[in-house]
Amino acid sequence: MDNRPIGFLDSGVGGLTVVRELIRQLPQEEVVYVGDSARAPYGPRPAEQIREFTWQLVRFLLTKNVKMIVIACNTATAIVWEEIKEKLDIPVIGVILPGAGAAIKASQTGRIGVIGTPMTIQSDIYREKIQFLAPQIEVISLACPRFAPLVESNEINSSLAKKVVYESLAPLAEAELDTLVLGCTHYPLLGALIQRVMGSNVSLIDSGAECVRDISVLLNYFQLNRSWSAGSSRHQFYTTASAKSFQDIAESWLKQTIDVEHVDL
Ligand code: DGL
Repeated sequence: MDNRPIGFLDSGVGGLTVVRELIRQLPQEEVVYVGDSARAPYGPRPAEQIREFTWQLVRFLLTKNVKMIVIACNTATAIVWEEIKEKLDIPVIGVILPGAGAAIKASQTGRIGVIGTPMTIQSDIYREKIQFLAPQIEVISLACPRFAPLVESNEINSSLAKKVVYESLAPLAEAELDTLVLGCTHYPLLGALIQRVMGSNVSLIDSGAECVRDISVLLNYFQLNRSWSAGSSRHQFYTTASAKSFQDIAESWLKQTIDVEHVDL
């Protein structure tokens, strides 16, 4: 047993999609979350900057005495997960491998689409991981740089969001995909819209939610589960931008009231 919290990081509010799934699957666990909304989006930034910012978030989480770190951001996972995993002596989980595995399982036709930030798509890491496991699969990738800013500004239900999602996904219309990986943790917040544009025959893979299975396996393997007798969970949320705006998005996504603190890294 280990009653310490699990640390989550993201460039902003996207990692909340992983937290929601964690709370659903592992309700006895406690979360410390840090989102760097002041510097989001990370996707268009140079790799070195993404690396530096991600390390700052990791160091912050370590001050909170976490037992495990979840890099709940595909962009940061693509650039720096391996390095962080090597350097820390607690388990560090990324979101890309679980998403790649789930997409292979879901696809019948072997034509998988991946959408993500410019850096995630440029890194080509999903194609690499998918084709390593299943070389016959065709991967069609598309960067959607306008999606994460829409989510950060809480415009997911706006007519602008509809327009942006329709326009951005247009290049996939003729791609004959049967599976689409939401390769950015912000995208499940636009999931209903993305599903409408892609059509009901396309299975959407939520890479963040998929990684909760890995979290569960590692907690069991290393015997790090929080005890059911430890009392109800008190999650902590931190943002580098406005606490109020983070709270609005988080409470409506998590469907519970939470406390949010501003933090300067
Ligand atoms: N949520 C992030 C991801 O999964 C990054 C979005 C961004 O900051 O560009 O890639």
